[in-house]
Amino acid sequence: MRIYVLDNYEEISMKAASILASQIILKPDSVLGLATGSTPLGMYRELVKMHKKGILDFSQVITFNLDEYVGIPPEHPQSYHYYMYNNFFNHLNMKKENINIPPGDEKSVHKVCEDYEQKLRSVSRIDLQVTGIGTNGHVGFNEPDQELNVNTHLIDLKEETIEANSRFFSSPEEVPRQAISMGMGSIMKAKKIIMLANGPNKAKPIEEVVNGKISTQLPASLVQLHPDVTLILDGEAAKYI
Ligand code: F6R
Repeated sequence: MRIYVLDNYEEISMKAASILASQIILKPDSVLGLATGSTPLGMYRELVKMHKKGILDFSQVITFNLDEYVGIPPEHPQSYHYYMYNNFFNHLNMKKENINIPPGDEKSVHKVCEDYEQKLRSVSRIDLQVTGIGTNGHVGFNEPDQELNVNTHLIDLKEETIEANSRFFSSPEEVPRQAISMGMGSIMKAKKIIMLANGPNKAKPIEEVVNGKISTQLPASLVQLHPDVTLILDGEAAKYI
């Protein structure tokens, strides 16, 4: 496991953006696994800047997002569809057919999960997976539990996730209770993983990821088994390691 401890959020964003940029320059048809949430926003901003300067071409890039809430439409400002288009895809030259985000407003969730898994299999492996980490150690919406799902699945969000994500909604009641998430299998199959974390709330789960045991009660700890993982942290998130 490679660990970068950087001075601030801007440096985390630059480092992550530089890794993605190198990946795309070296392999223009890279398959990227992408996360949402507050952590990668700066990284997306940097990548958009590089694209606007003509340094990065996204015309052959394929993306798979980790997750989406169930029960809110794609045009909802807190949906991950809205987030990704607004903060990233709308500013790039990506082909629409190369963008994959699990649909969260469909009736037949089971079929949606199967179709997403099928699409993931069609690319065989993600070249570079970007993740954040939940305060409870979730990755994507793979929540702590006695067992974890390998494949794309429907998940009931834990109270602490609803609580943490309520900062994006006007009240905790508005936070969707379920989501569709890529399973730990596809995440762990990625050729490379970069995990970003900043701020004091991430210090405990990061300590577990670096020094703790591997446990389904802290899904992020599974990355200890991965041969090519890079943690990109600020001092606060790294304070116990
Ligand atoms: C979202 C995702 C989540 C977030 C995690 C941290 O696509 O994968 O696992 O990475 O909840 O969220 P932030 O970055 O808002 O602290």
